[in-house]
Amino acid sequence: MKKVVPIKVFRHRLLILDQRKLPQEMVWFEAQRAADVVYAIRHMLLRGAPLIGIAAAYGFYLEIYHEIKKGRIPTLAFAKRLKQSLDKSRPTAINLMWATELMLEAFRKLREKNKPGEIVNQLFAQAKFIQEDDAQRCAQMACEALVYLEKNLPRQKYRVLTHCNTGALATGGIGTALGLIRLLQQKGKLAMVYVGETRPYLQGARLTTWELFREKIPVTLVVDSMAAFLMQKAEVDVVVVGADRITRRGDVANKIGTYSLSVLAKHHQIPFLVLAPESTYDGRLTFGHEIPIEERDAHEVLSFHGLKVSPPVKVKNYSFDITPRENITAIITEKGLFQGEPAFSSARATSPSISIS
Ligand code: MRU
Repeated sequence: MKKVVPIKVFRHRLLILDQRKLPQEMVWFEAQRAADVVYAIRHMLLRGAPLIGIAAAYGFYLEIYHEIKKGRIPTLAFAKRLKQSLDKSRPTAINLMWATELMLEAFRKLREKNKPGEIVNQLFAQAKFIQEDDAQRCAQMACEALVYLEKNLPRQKYRVLTHCNTGALATGGIGTALGLIRLLQQKGKLAMVYVGETRPYLQGARLTTWELFREKIPVTLVVDSMAAFLMQKAEVDVVVVGADRITRRGDVANKIGTYSLSVLAKHHQIPFLVLAPESTYDGRLTFGHEIPIEERDAHEVLSFHGLKVSPPVKVKNYSFDITPRENITAIITEKGLFQGEPAFSSARATSPSISIS
């Protein structure tokens, strides 16, 4: 079974697989303008750091396309406002701002030539490049991570614990953490993937299990609170997760619950790997606490599929948390090990079962 496709791209519209409805139904949402893409990102019809960036790039293109179709080349001020509106759709994943910056830069250069047809064609090509480039980064990252694992934690087969959804539904390719998992399966080196449910949005229970089940990859769903016991029973060889933003120091923002897993892994001396493309790196920030953390609506926690599960009490719904570098055994990008700024290189986890090369 081929991996799922989360968006379908056309010259004047983008079809977005509505991930809120998975795995029950495959419903496609049509985006014709940037505002539609903002809606889709904000309401999590699509999600996952690299995919948010890819969709925003197409949203940028679509809006410029529509303006040019009306017979005018937008001003640079218009393009900057467009970038800002896309950037505001979700605050934590830096891939979004990274992708819209590339689009704005391309537009800035193209505008000087004053050729409407060329602007449209080249912006479309730029968005497509961002998408295809991410697919390559995912593939390369998986190879780098496999080499790292085989060198530092040699096993016949691995039992991997992962969190959230980091696969084809979150990227332009095979995924970040899930990319490594797919590669392990291809090489006959995967014993089991344990997937945490990832309350409240259930990216693990709904999306990751679905991706893996379709491809006949061995998967076991666990409630988030079971991770500690699984580790205590020595049923996990390695924890592998993705990232939404990485600072110069190597602190990582990722789906809420990632930090807890890192603390547990450290306690049980289990290697904890983060896989992310370089587009997730934010060189302007040093420490994790500088990363803006999205807080989402209370209803996501108070109800489940429209069914109320709690009285209308106050809710705290941070969508991400920060895992400090000290809890991470290795951060692996498409270029190999991410060392962080040299000044912070001592701030990383080591465990007896894995030596840092
Ligand atoms: O809120 P989401 O579903 O967009 O969060 C996604 C994650 O936290 C992923 O782990 C992350 O984007 C990294 S892997 C693509």
